[in-house]
Amino acid sequence: MSVSYMTHPLIKHKITLLRKTATGTNEFRKLIEEIAMLMGYEALADLPTADIEVETPIEKTVQPVINGKKLAVVPILRAGLGMVSGILALVPSAKVGHIGLYRDPETHLPHEYYCKLPEAIDERQIVVVDPMLATGGSAVAAVDFIKARGGKKIKFMSVIAAPEGVSTLMKAHPDIQLYVGCLDRCLNENAYICPGLGDAGDRIFGTL
Ligand code: PRP
Ligand code: URA
Repeated sequence: MSVSYMTHPLIKHKITLLRKTATGTNEFRKLIEEIAMLMGYEALADLPTADIEVETPIEKTVQPVINGKKLAVVPILRAGLGMVSGILALVPSAKVGHIGLYRDPETHLPHEYYCKLPEAIDERQIVVVDPMLATGGSAVAAVDFIKARGGKKIKFMSVIAAPEGVSTLMKAHPDIQLYVGCLDRCLNENAYICPGLGDAGDRIFGTL
């Protein structure tokens, strides 16, 4: 598995604002969307293109376009939902799947409650999005589901990751490409990322 850590100052700046307790729901949502778009720009740098003929005011020419219909964005519910609009701003014709998982508060193990993926998933470039990669349990389970349904080309984008999550995902799915906005220090006793940003789902949806 390849792991890419984001170095762009705009991404770093926006992640810093995201962490602040004083950042309210409205701003938090906006930042998550912007970060997803900036990370998506990096993560989609190898999207294949196909040539089409277009007519300029001067002459006909053959130029490259992206086939957005071959892309599937798959948020892990709930918090991943906050990143979808950022990717769709880049590739509006991408299809969107959903995987519903929540971490048991006691065991920290992921539980599935929903999975719906676009058709012909085996032919698509899949981008799984979830702001937090903590123990890695949810990420591993999500990629397990996608592979069980035929998904092959998988990228995973997380805004903040703990070293434990990166290592667990890398061991379970060495074939995927991981994009991390910022690698944090560690997990605490409740499996929250330190320094992190708290509970991403609660901060996006205002359920604190
Ligand atoms: C959060 C987050 C990830 C998961 C990461 O979701 O959005 O999906 O925890 O933790 P892990 O790497 O230890 O599995 P949560 O389970 O809190 O659900 P929610 O998005 O519905 O709040
Ligand atoms: N899920 C979150 O939302 N935040 C963490 O720090 C860990 C898991």
